Amino acid sequence: MSLIKTAADIAAMREAGRLAAEVLTFIEPHLRAGISTLEIDRLAHDYMTQVQGVIPAPLNYHGFPKSICTSVNHVVCHGIPSEKKILKNGDIINIDITVIKDGYHGDTSKMFLIGDCSVLARRLCKVALECLYLGIAQVRPGAHLGDIGHAIQTHAEAQRFSVVRDYCGHGIGRGFHEEPQVLHYGRPGTGMELQAGMIFTIEPMINAGTHHTRLLADDWTVVTRDHKLSAQWEHMMVVTETGVEVLTARPEEDLSFLENIA
Ligand code: MF3
Ligand code: CO
Ligand code: CO
Repeated sequence: MSLIKTAADIAAMREAGRLAAEVLTFIEPHLRAGISTLEIDRLAHDYMTQVQGVIPAPLNYHGFPKSICTSVNHVVCHGIPSEKKILKNGDIINIDITVIKDGYHGDTSKMFLIGDCSVLARRLCKVALECLYLGIAQVRPGAHLGDIGHAIQTHAEAQRFSVVRDYCGHGIGRGFHEEPQVLHYGRPGTGMELQAGMIFTIEPMINAGTHHTRLLADDWTVVTRDHKLSAQWEHMMVVTETGVEVLTARPEEDLSFLENIA
């Protein structure tokens, strides 16, 4: 699919994004110590298929076996829901939702804190969200992809955290993962120049230790090599004539900092 979406494409992506965000809002009250990640998957699957009438994009995507990704503590991304993985007090979990609505993808994720989390865990989740927001704030016609990566990397490293290099954000539309790749590190003024009508995700994975990752034998689960904590937040957005529109904003989310972009 083209890098520049049509007005009709953008309208459909707005609805797909809204639905993906709605799944995160739906799931939140169910999250507590004692629930398994498989039960979270079942709840989200049933909500998507029976209430929203959307397709869970991860299910059977290149062989992924479940409907959502659940990445706990040192799991960086692509965690597979399992009845054996029971949330406990102090865990942090990323839940990543991708829906297909009328052939268009909506992709978003956020961190949830389970009970009493450590100061480090809370700070990591907060900084990862700030990294996402600083990246989004770079988005406007004429900016470069490297501006996004640089803003994210600068903030993460100033906090003595690291940015995962092995996975990135992506263009999205009728395809789950389209061009371009959106790196979460880089240099200002480098990389593709943004134009109105481009739709992509920014989804920084920020590690408490080194940026290095390892893929588990299940060929999906990505963990930090040092087994220290990792946090990720993801939004999907469209470049507008004046800046950016976040397509996966949740109703309670304050994105008013973006109104400075004119
Ligand atoms: N939702 C993830 C992303 O943000 C991709 C998950 S692919 C899966 O790009 F197969 F693991 F579900
Ligand atoms: Co994504
Ligand atoms: Co995602």
